[in-house]
Amino acid sequence: MHTYSLSLLLLALPAAAVEIEQRVDALLQRMTLGEKLGQMSQSNALRGGISPEVKAEIRKGRWGSFLNAGSFEDRAEAQRIALKESRLGIPLIFGRDVIHGYRTVFPIPLGQSASWDPELVAQAARIAARETAAMGIQWTFAPMLDIARDPRWGRIAESLGEDPYLASLLGAAMVRGFQGASLDAPDSIAACAKHYVGYGAAEGGRDYNTTWIPEAELRNVYLRSFQAARAAGVATFMSAFNNLNGIPTSGNVFTLRQVLRKEWGFDGFVVSDWNSVTQMIAHGYAGDAAEAAFKALRAGVDMEMNSTSYYDQLKSEVEAGKVDLKLIDEAVRNILRVKMRLGLFDKPVPTAPDNAAMFTAEGREVAKRLATESTVLLKNENRTLPLSKSIGKVAVIGPLADSPVDQMGCWVRDADPSEVRTPLAALKETLGAARVVYAPGLKVSRDVSRAGFAAALEAARAADAVLLFLGEEQSLSGEAHSRAFLDLPGAQEALVEEVARAGKPMVAVILAGRPLTFQKVTERAGAVLFAWHPGSMGGPALADLLFGDAVPSGKLTASFPRTVGQTPVYYNHMSTGRPPVPSDLGIKMGMPKDPAQDTAKYIDVDYTPEYPFGFGLSYTTFEYSNLRLSSPTAPMGGTLTVSAEVANSGAVEAEEIVQLYTRQLAASVTRPVRELKGYRRVRIKPGQKQTVEFTLRTADLAFYNERGQLVTEPGAFQVWVAPNSARGLRGEFRVTE
Ligand code: GLC
Repeated sequence: MHTYSLSLLLLALPAAAVEIEQRVDALLQRMTLGEKLGQMSQSNALRGGISPEVKAEIRKGRWGSFLNAGSFEDRAEAQRIALKESRLGIPLIFGRDVIHGYRTVFPIPLGQSASWDPELVAQAARIAARETAAMGIQWTFAPMLDIARDPRWGRIAESLGEDPYLASLLGAAMVRGFQGASLDAPDSIAACAKHYVGYGAAEGGRDYNTTWIPEAELRNVYLRSFQAARAAGVATFMSAFNNLNGIPTSGNVFTLRQVLRKEWGFDGFVVSDWNSVTQMIAHGYAGDAAEAAFKALRAGVDMEMNSTSYYDQLKSEVEAGKVDLKLIDEAVRNILRVKMRLGLFDKPVPTAPDNAAMFTAEGREVAKRLATESTVLLKNENRTLPLSKSIGKVAVIGPLADSPVDQMGCWVRDADPSEVRTPLAALKETLGAARVVYAPGLKVSRDVSRAGFAAALEAARAADAVLLFLGEEQSLSGEAHSRAFLDLPGAQEALVEEVARAGKPMVAVILAGRPLTFQKVTERAGAVLFAWHPGSMGGPALADLLFGDAVPSGKLTASFPRTVGQTPVYYNHMSTGRPPVPSDLGIKMGMPKDPAQDTAKYIDVDYTPEYPFGFGLSYTTFEYSNLRLSSPTAPMGGTLTVSAEVANSGAVEAEEIVQLYTRQLAASVTRPVRELKGYRRVRIKPGQKQTVEFTLRTADLAFYNERGQLVTEPGAFQVWVAPNSARGLRGEFRVTE
């Protein structure tokens, strides 16, 4: 950048930012090429402890960052060497996957998203930041912002669901929580918007698989949550593994330079995902490590995670005149800028872990609230729930009732399983141990042995009610754990059939990292709660819900298919030219073939999901009525008020997440049959009602057209105020020029 324009730029910046730019410039000018490439390199080498070789490398300026870096003491020693014994004293930045908690574990992100509660999600991230910073780690590889429409993909567990509007709100809340009021505060850590971008669209739901996403879809669906994180001030991004339209995302100039830097003005740094730079060789996008390094650098990946092509290859490439030193200087500038914003050059290095910050009562309370709000009630026939505390005896069946590691879910690295409150322990605390009979029936969720069935049936026969804890063990979800089937693993269904022979009322609680298919269980159980992997306080949260000390309010953020054959199934889909119609429901193979029935349906299963996006029941019932629009038209640039009355027609006070959806009936590119545009959480007493009002701006209806322009187009719209994406009160309006 020309000095003149740089000084102009500096004039436009606030004083603190000017000071940082000047410090970065001054430091950059003193750095050797080797030291620059060192800053661009992140190592995993502290994982097993700090060796003399690594100490020497740090002294030489070989590394700018470590991830998964061993013990507190190792990190403190590494930082001391970097600050005191390296030539320029540039601090290291330590990164860690703090995806849903460090020591206090919150529900998996897919679970948290079912709370629809950005403030609570932000509080959880704040607590995670406090615990992480207390251990001398300054950076988390979160939030994961990939839109996920395919439950076969193991990483749906880490996502915030299928809707870009909600994922944007919650992702930005996580960024605010992690980074706090100021990035250089002692309990703030840098967040990382990942995996940039489109990773969740992996073909077949198979992890790391190819993604084909047209630009309009990329902008309207997959980029939005990342744009929201950028707007929230996220300090870093992580490029992804996937091949996006033929160009791997870790070498993709369009997404990393055109969108992220030019359009969004992002000035933090981009770290690659693990070896995703050199994996461009396997992709067939680079012939060797030198070409991979060049293409990643050219695209705008500033720091290489774990693989070493930057350090190994770029020095000679620069000296051979094949790589412009300016590209390297820009990358180092971005890294140094974030390290200075974090205060790493100025903050004292922690000399001891702050254990007082760990697993606090406040953190446990937030974890319990979030687990409670994340749990979704899918069925409650004849008021099976809530149970009475004077119920007598309960039989607790299923290995997930007492499995701390499974309950915490994927990506938990620093928690202590002995601190986890399991459902079994919480039920014993609620009812007294004498009234709780535990018979797991299976050793783990994948167990196919029926050796434990007899004891389970006996426990059921001796009880007044049966609580089934079913689902997926933790190791079945997360990275590289895609499944081709969505059934309950192992012999869990057979266990339910066996226990059903006792003829007692049954409640199923499902702990899992993804939407599953479990119709047989639903048929057998009077009630079904879906609790995801609920984290450290899942037990007390579920005990409160089961006995009515809390009322379920969670709403699904990922559609649940009837069968894996339906995937991907999501609510904000396009109409097609032959949309299925309600009369297509219930058709099974063998029915007379009527050409009028040639629609986009299946002939062997209903085309609708088992449970739609936004679905969740309560212990009360809510009635929606009296939809009103302030006008039948909204002038371009204007607003429209949409309201409806929501009444609590049941017997308990409860919260309802009232949702606002719109549809544009015709546009320059096809638009989804529904799109979430807003929601309100309302708390209503029995017999009361509330008018819930939304203000809709025509700008809220904007979308990216096929030329990549953000436009609102005039025309006819539908609008719903709804309890979920499949129902609601519908109105019509027009946007006029
Ligand atoms: C992994 C994941 C990424 C994680 C990184 C560091 O492969 O894709 O989400 O942050 O490596 O552990």
